[in-house]
Formats: sequence, C-alpha cells, structure tokens
Amino acid sequence: MKIVRLPGLIDVHTHLRVPGGEHKEDFASGSAAALAGGITMILGMPNTSPPLCTPEVLLAARQRAAQDSYCDVGLFAGACPALIEHLPDLAPHAAALKIYLNDTFGQLRVEDVPTLRACFQTWPHHKLIAMHAEKQSVAVGIGFAAAYNRPVHFCHISRREEIELIADAKAQGLPVTCEVTPHHLFLTTADAQRLGPLGDMRPLLGTPDDVAALWDHLSSTVDCIATDHAPHTLAEKYSATPPPGVAGLETSLPLMLTAVQQGRLTLERLIELMHTTPRRLFNLPEQPDTWVDVDVESTYLVKNETMVSKCGWTPFAGWELTGKVEKVVLRGRVVVENGLIVGERGGGRLLTVPPLVD
Ligand code: DOR
Ligand code: ZN
Ligand code: ZN
Repeated sequence: MKIVRLPGLIDVHTHLRVPGGEHKEDFASGSAAALAGGITMILGMPNTSPPLCTPEVLLAARQRAAQDSYCDVGLFAGACPALIEHLPDLAPHAAALKIYLNDTFGQLRVEDVPTLRACFQTWPHHKLIAMHAEKQSVAVGIGFAAAYNRPVHFCHISRREEIELIADAKAQGLPVTCEVTPHHLFLTTADAQRLGPLGDMRPLLGTPDDVAALWDHLSSTVDCIATDHAPHTLAEKYSATPPPGVAGLETSLPLMLTAVQQGRLTLERLIELMHTTPRRLFNLPEQPDTWVDVDVESTYLVKNETMVSKCGWTPFAGWELTGKVEKVVLRGRVVVENGLIVGERGGGRLLTVPPLVD
C-alpha cells in the first residue's frame, strides 16, 4: 500500500445524457461515477435529446445539474445548423462550444463552411471551441483556427495521421490543442473484434500503429486525457442498431496509474494531462481543499458489477489494474471513502465559466 495524493482530476469530455437519455446516465449517476474515478469536475457534452443548442434547453439542463450532481459540472453548448443564431445567447451559460464535423451518436453535425464561419464569427472570442473531427476534418479545424486566429481543441484524437498533423500545426505556432482517451491508448482493432458492440465507439479503435503514435506523442503533442464517457445500456449495445460509445469515468485514472506503474509516463505528466492543462485550456475554476488519495500499489480486478455508472458495464471488465481510488475530498468534505460514494446529491457545483483572458 502506497498512498499518493493527487489534485481533483478534470474530465472535459463526458456524456451525461440529460435531457432525453436518463435511462443511460443522469447527472447524479454520471457525477458519482466521476468521483468514484477520482474526477471532481466534468464538462458535459451537448448531444442530448433535444441537444443543448437553445437557451431554454441549456438552462433547464443546468438547473437539473445543480440539483443532482455529486461533483462540479459545466456544460457545452452545441452547434446545430438550424439553431445557429442562438450561439451568442448560449455562450454565457456554457463552458465551451462543441462542433461535430463527423457522424456519431445523435443528430448534431455541421457539414458546411457557411455554418462553420457563423460559429467562428459569433461564438465569443474568449471562449473555447472544441471539435469532433476525424481524419481530414482535423485539417478543416486547423484551417479555421488559423483563419480566425482563435484556439480550437480537438476531441479524442485517435489516429497517427491526426496526431502528426496536430504536431505539425503546433510547430507552426497555430493555436490548436487536443485530448486522447484511455480507450484509444489501451485498446486496438483487435479488441474491437473481441468486444463486438462493446468495443464500438467514434472514433473507432485504432491500429497498433495508431496507438503507438498516441503514446509517442503523450509527452509532447497531447494536451489532456479525456474520457469521452459515453454510456449506453447493454440492451442497446446488443440491439440491431447498437449506438457507438463506451463508459470511461471510472477506469480512466486507474488505467493511467497502471501506465505510470509500468513506467510508460510519469506521475507529474499524468497530473498535467488530467488536471493542470484541462483547467488552463477551458479556464476552469480552482477547487479549494479538493484532492484524491490513490493507492498506487494496490492491484484490483475491474468488474461490471461494481460500476457506479448507470450503464453497468465497461470494455475493461476483467482487466487487472494497479492504482485504486481510496478517498476523494471535495471542498473539504469527504465524498468517496474506501471506494464508496459518501458525498451528497447536489453537493457538486454548477460551473459559471469566466471569460478566457486573451
Ligand atoms: O462513440 C461515441 N459516442 N462518440 C461520440 O462522439 C458520441 C458518443 C455518444 O454520445 O454516445
Ligand atoms: Zn466525439
Ligand atoms: Zn464524445
């Protein structure tokens, strides 16, 4: 047993499914799953049903988040071509704007340059724009970052061609950043075959060469680890039309701690990737008196049965991981003890995100 104290970790990419998908996850279950995984602040994605694209829907979701959350929560606004005129009114209530350039779960997708121009022209300059962009869409995002001279954050980068393009753009001084997910670092196309629908997500799992490229860039080009926690029920996953996505909040830190134990990254770099840099990029508030005690030597078996997320399964079931969350303290109050949630519903804070300083 060796206890190490980490700062409260931040996940800038969580799907919380409110409104419309509460049978998969809700603010209570998702934020409790975050705490169980040592994550004390999460940013919720806008591809809900209806999506977070109008002030009415976003404000109603924020109200529910404030009532139900165990950890601190902020929400993304979504870019929907038919509702693009709402962006300026959404901005004061959103942590950032999310634009989907490729197909994934839900209807949100921007396919045309005029809508992208409208996003870049009307979303306040001091707030971040995040993109789901794959393959050559990453080049589109880099082009917009350059043309409008404003930061663009790329979600879940998963392929060699993407991370190398972002490295080149950074070398030119362009204002781009990126995240990678633990599932794209620890699973490959071979696991996708083995797992069937439980290994299906967007972006798809990469080849061993893609995965090697992500690890090579983990100490340089990659800015943060984000979970892309995307819960769906087992019944949905084994249906005729399985939705893409896997849970990640509870396994992200244990997987990354296992990598530390194996000498694949340092604990200092883990803290940068999972706390310091996400906070700086999204201009998130400090959480005083907040920390996570992990036992970095204890090994445990990942089990579906002990998952806090409502979906109740993980693609990492059966894996032995080294690094266990023992205790979490949020603003001076113990919220996880001996691996169990002891915090209170509504004890998390809703983030009001101050403007980025240019
Ligand atoms: O696999 C995915 N699932 N990728 C996404 O981009 C969306 C997510 C979801 O919401 O289920
Ligand atoms: Zn995505
Ligand atoms: Zn996502």
